[in-house]
Amino acid sequence: MAKRLRVGFVGFGGIAQGCHVGGWKAVKDAEIVAVADPSATAQKAAITQLGIPEANVFGDYKKLLGKVELDVVDICTPNAHHYTPTMEAFKAGCHVIVEKPFAISARQAEKMTEAGHEASKLLMVAQSLRFTAESLAVRRWVDAGLIGDAYWGRASMLRVRGVPPWGAFIDKEASAGGPCYDIGVHALDLCLLLMGFPEPVSVSACTYLEIANKPSLMRHSIRTYTVPEDFAVGFVRFANGASISLEASWALNVCAGQGGVLVCGTKGGVQWSPPTLISEEHGMVVETTPQVNPDKDINSHHEEIRLFAEAIRKGLPSPVPGEQALITQRILDGVYKSGKLGREVKV
Ligand SMILES: NC(=O)c1ccc[n+]([C@@H]2O[C@H](COP(=O)([O-])OP(=O)(O)OC[C@H]3O[C@@H](n4cnc5c(N)ncnc54)[C@H](O)[C@@H]3O)[C@@H](O)[C@H]2O)c1
Repeated sequence: MAKRLRVGFVGFGGIAQGCHVGGWKAVKDAEIVAVADPSATAQKAAITQLGIPEANVFGDYKKLLGKVELDVVDICTPNAHHYTPTMEAFKAGCHVIVEKPFAISARQAEKMTEAGHEASKLLMVAQSLRFTAESLAVRRWVDAGLIGDAYWGRASMLRVRGVPPWGAFIDKEASAGGPCYDIGVHALDLCLLLMGFPEPVSVSACTYLEIANKPSLMRHSIRTYTVPEDFAVGFVRFANGASISLEASWALNVCAGQGGVLVCGTKGGVQWSPPTLISEEHGMVVETTPQVNPDKDINSHHEEIRLFAEAIRKGLPSPVPGEQALITQRILDGVYKSGKLGREVKV
């Protein structure tokens, strides 16, 4: 029987405790053995929830990497703290799963991807939206070739008043970006996946901060809102002639329930969510939705961890490789740059 995968967490806040721990607990041949987080509350949670010895709970992740033998490092820190722990974990000879957004610049994303290859270790970016039952249904149609060649996509995540008031989401130093990095990244990743990750060429975008930094119906303190946008809208051109319209808001005066991912191709189209296939049949354009979805009970966060562990065990490619997340990162960099400069930029 193969040795159990020894997993260490860097960052043990909301997503780690709420989603990743359950994912690892469901992997039969893995065990969480150590945690690093500077927060005393997070450290206490690690000891009580995981039952790991106090000696394996650290404030500084470098101590965790130096003192505990690990196979996998699971990085669940705020966005600006993804890069250095990833680089150090590869140096320590570990596989890495890192939360989205991959990084806070394409340069960082490039170096993280290279570091994984140099260490011959697996890197996965936790783009959990790919693994929901709805996304998996849409992916089945696309993988079966039912939409032909995709040439336009819409990646849209629009919240009316949905600024996350917890953690470091609205702090520029820790998170670097607002809704683009937080939720736009999910829609963009899924849209790019369905379109086969074409090579981006340019982005033209506008970023706005009109609501979240003013008194309103939101729960965060407006003084601490330092990320650059509460809404961003952009248009991306690709080398193969395809394009994507991208929209992401935490605060926008729009009806609730707007947004989603749409990909249109030469033979058909798919919409998420609910998952819908648009196709021509018997001289009609029809919309198809699944009545029974075999993936309906899947927990997307658990599924991403299951697939990551399986890829490590079987020597399979990463379920969300750095090369793909780098393309997403280049586009998001382009959105912020274009928004700042007020013109189209090359990416
Ligand atoms: N995939 C998803 O759907 C999803 C959902 C929520 C959050 N996330 C991502 O997960 C990451 C963390 O978000 P969260 O909601 O868990 O935030 P959080 O604030 O609840 O937790 C972050 C934890 O990281 C710790 N931390 C900060 N700097 C650290 C460092 N240098 N070393 C070790 N620990 C450090 C903090 O003390 C905190 O406990 C973000 O990048 C976010 O975008 C992803």
